[in-house]
Parts: sequence; C-alpha cells; structure tokens
Amino acid sequence: MTTDSPQQGLARELFGLAFRNPVGLGAGFDKNALYLEELEALGFGFVEIGTVTPLPQAGNEQPRLFRLPMDQALINRMGFNNDGATVIAERLKKWREGRTKIPLIVGGNIGKNKSTPNDMAWKDYELCFRALFEPVDYFVVNVSSPNTPGLRELQEKDALRRILVNLQTVNKELAAKTKINPRPLLLKIAPDLNGQQLDEVIALALEIGLDGLVAANTSIGREKLLTPPHRIEAIGAGGLSGAPLKERATAIVQYIQGKTRGSIPLIASGGIFTGADAKEKIQAGASLVQVWTGFIYVGPMIVARICEKLGP
Ligand SMILES: Cc1cc2nc3c(=O)[nH]c(=O)nc-3n(C[C@H](O)[C@H](O)[C@H](O)COP(=O)(O)O)c2cc1C
Repeated sequence: MTTDSPQQGLARELFGLAFRNPVGLGAGFDKNALYLEELEALGFGFVEIGTVTPLPQAGNEQPRLFRLPMDQALINRMGFNNDGATVIAERLKKWREGRTKIPLIVGGNIGKNKSTPNDMAWKDYELCFRALFEPVDYFVVNVSSPNTPGLRELQEKDALRRILVNLQTVNKELAAKTKINPRPLLLKIAPDLNGQQLDEVIALALEIGLDGLVAANTSIGREKLLTPPHRIEAIGAGGLSGAPLKERATAIVQYIQGKTRGSIPLIASGGIFTGADAKEKIQAGASLVQVWTGFIYVGPMIVARICEKLGP
C-alpha cells in the first residue's frame, strides 16, 4: 500500500472532496497543524486540525488530560489551547507549498476564544473562517466542547443560525473573490443533546443547507464507568471520550440518518477502536469516521487495521 494513492475500495467522494479512505483523526489531536506529514504517513484519510480560535490561547491549567484505562476512555478539559488562526493558517500554507498532490484532506475545526462573550461568538467563527479559508479543505463549527464555559449554549437554534448563516455568506464572498470553490461547512454536535435539541439541529441543518454534521464530541456524562467513583470525582470537570461514548454516538448517527433519510452527510466520532466499530458507524449512516481515544489506546496501527476491515 502506498500512502499517496487511493486505496482499493476505500476511496470516498464527499462534499466534492476525494478521500483516499474514510478513516480520519478527530479534532483536538493536531490542534496546531504540526504533524500532518506524520499523520499522512500513518494512513489517515483526513485530519481535522484545531479547534482553532482567532487569538492564541493557553488553555486550562494542567493536569487537564486523564486516562481511564479500565474504561478505555479519557477525560479532558484542555480548553482550546492553540496557536491562533493567523499562525496556524500560515503553517498550513507553508505545508501545502511545493506539494502538487496532497492525498490528505485537512479539515479546519473552529471555535471562539474563552474571553469572547457568546453574543459576539459569530465574529470569532468568521475570523477563523477567513484566516483558514484557503489552506483547509472543509470547516467544522465547534459549539459542542464542554471545556469553554457557555460554548455549548451556542447549540441553541437562534445562536447557531446566526453563526452558520454568517459563515455561509462569508463563504460565498471568499469563493467569488478567490475563484476557489466554497468550502464545505459542517457542524459538530454534543452527544448530550436531548431529542428535542437534536431535532432542532437537524431542522436548522436542512433549512440552511449545511454540508454535514459531525456526531459527536465528548460528553459531560459519567454513566456506566468501571473506574471507581472517587477517582472520577478527583479528576473533576471535562469531556469523556472513548469506549463509553460508542453506543450513544452510534445512536445519534442512526437517529439523524433516519430523520433526514440520509440527506445530511455524517462524520461519526465516538468510541471507534476497531474495524467492527467503524463498520457499525457506517452501517448506522456515517459516510466517514474519526478516531481519537482509539488512537491513544490502540496505537498508530489503528488506521491500517480499520482500513483492512473496511476494504473489499
Ligand atoms: C484530549 C482531547 C482533546 C480534544 N479536543 C477537541 C477539540 O479541540 N475540538 C473538537 O471539536 N473536539 C475535540 N475533542 C473531541 C474529539 O475530536 C472526539 O470528537 C471525541 O473525543 C470522541 O471521539 P473518541 O471517542 O474517538 O475519542 C478532543 C478529544 C480529546 C480526547
């Protein structure tokens, strides 16, 4: 297998982009677009950089990332530590320079700075979008991280509409100016949304013609864990990821797929460790999958192993 050719039976065409395989790396691993060369070599079909915020920020105090090995899970409260949109955009442009054929699709996951009030959040998303428009292949609006106070309130439909409709306007403007195709615009949702909230997100996505949804981010829930409660309590706040998220993430994908009859492309994220896990998400309706916690526990061979199981 060479890393720069589409893999037999694994290539996917989605949002007008050619993915060499459907296995991606979720946002938050390569927040600053520093390791694309290495991640490409490991075989990822796509990598979502970020979450990027307009200004650089340090994130929360350490320790802020905890392993729950008994549960094959992680809890994190990183808090969008990143180098900021300008620096990351320049880094990405340099990475692309001189390379004619890049097999790796790069998504830009965007957010707001901690200090930006929610009623001005739309502007932060716009600043990130403008900075990253040229060097990323698609965008994901992140309003679902539990580690920026108040961020998830932006999942409420009026706040969300304001952010997304503005980005669509900017998208058209920049596409006309640069003669580049408009960038696919996706939204990443929390696994903790209830049925009504999910229905509202789906209705909005259909109404404004979003290109896709990423389901789902980390959870504020702590149910059904094997790790002793005193340890969970000692860890404190943060988003739970990994195996405990698997069922819920699959259920959300299935629900959205059913409600929309497949008209909104879905990227599944949550508890994917094996080829069987990835197949489960695809059977539920996902077009692409992303790993994160599985990458930590399974190791760098995870992409090759999943691809082997998904192959013809
Ligand atoms: C340490 C860590 C940092 C993360 N940072 C981000 C982030 O910045 N933006 C984002 O949208 N998701 C972030 N995520 C969520 C992942 O992209 C993914 O959606 C989630 O972990 C569920 O997938 P998993 O069970 O395979 O880990 C982060 C996850 C972890 C574990």
